[in-house]
Amino acid sequence: MATARPKLIESVSGTSSIDFAAEVRRGLSKPGQKELPSSFLYDEVGSALFEVICLLPEYGLSRAGARLLQLHAEEITERLPLPVIVAELGSGSGTKTRWILEALAKRQPVKYFPIDISRTALSRCWQELGHLDSVSLVGFERAYLDGLLEVAARRESGERLLVLFLGSTIGNFDRPAGETFLRQVREILLPGDALLLAADLEKPWPQLLAAYDDPTGVTAAFNLNILGHINRSFGADFDLSKFAHSVRYDEKQRRIEMHLRSLVDQQVKIPAADFVLRLHKGETIWTESSHKYTCPEVVTMGERAGFSCNGQWADHEWPFSQSLFLAT
Ligand code: AVI
Repeated sequence: MATARPKLIESVSGTSSIDFAAEVRRGLSKPGQKELPSSFLYDEVGSALFEVICLLPEYGLSRAGARLLQLHAEEITERLPLPVIVAELGSGSGTKTRWILEALAKRQPVKYFPIDISRTALSRCWQELGHLDSVSLVGFERAYLDGLLEVAARRESGERLLVLFLGSTIGNFDRPAGETFLRQVREILLPGDALLLAADLEKPWPQLLAAYDDPTGVTAAFNLNILGHINRSFGADFDLSKFAHSVRYDEKQRRIEMHLRSLVDQQVKIPAADFVLRLHKGETIWTESSHKYTCPEVVTMGERAGFSCNGQWADHEWPFSQSLFLAT
């Protein structure tokens, strides 16, 4: 049994290297399909709406991820070289991380570093996990890779690093970009470090459409809020009632796409991005993709990024996978 140790309460904040206004302008001025960065869905309102999405009966992803961790956390942590410190990319409220931290804390005191661009998510994570026995928590208000670099710099000699990427956010990258991202993570790690990666798996498209276009309208509100977020951040004048949530499944790419469809011809000013957006009736802004994987595909992606797969667990109620990779 690990001994209890004092918890470290700290949040490391700072300027982000991301210029959001420039990203918004770039996406909306694209010729052809206009886009917005999906990271912009997650301001305080968006993060709260996402938590509600995770409760919807139609949206099984989060429950499947949590189920896998609840069932297999012991087995996963037994495969890790010790001592190990834990960094989590996009921790959100950290609810499902509890299973991993508790299993690990039976074997060693745990240093846990959640990394999230949202301060609100970090403080929720603190409320959820800050009181666990034998776990110290230091939150990093950072983009994923910036935060991971800082955590890696804090490791002490002999400590391994376990990176958790549990939200299946890998699906929100285009496939090549997902692999590039994993390679960037790998470059920060040392051989023998570990990555636990969650990915949502392929399933019949009607089930996916219901998950991303729920009858309660929560996902529609989540999607529309991206425009509210831009209004609040950049003084824009999007009228949310002039847009509709629209979801499609691209069978070739095996991904859900979320769009906002303009209901009228319109013009929107975005002063802080120094931009005026013109939209025709029916034109869409693409706000998010959610790619669906197969288990072997996840293994291959990890291997091509410089890892070997040490174990994979799949949920059959809602096809979903957790894969444990070791840096080679
Ligand atoms: C965070 N991410 C894995 C979610 C997904 O399912 O792609 C975001 C989401 N978008 C709409 N609903 C949930």
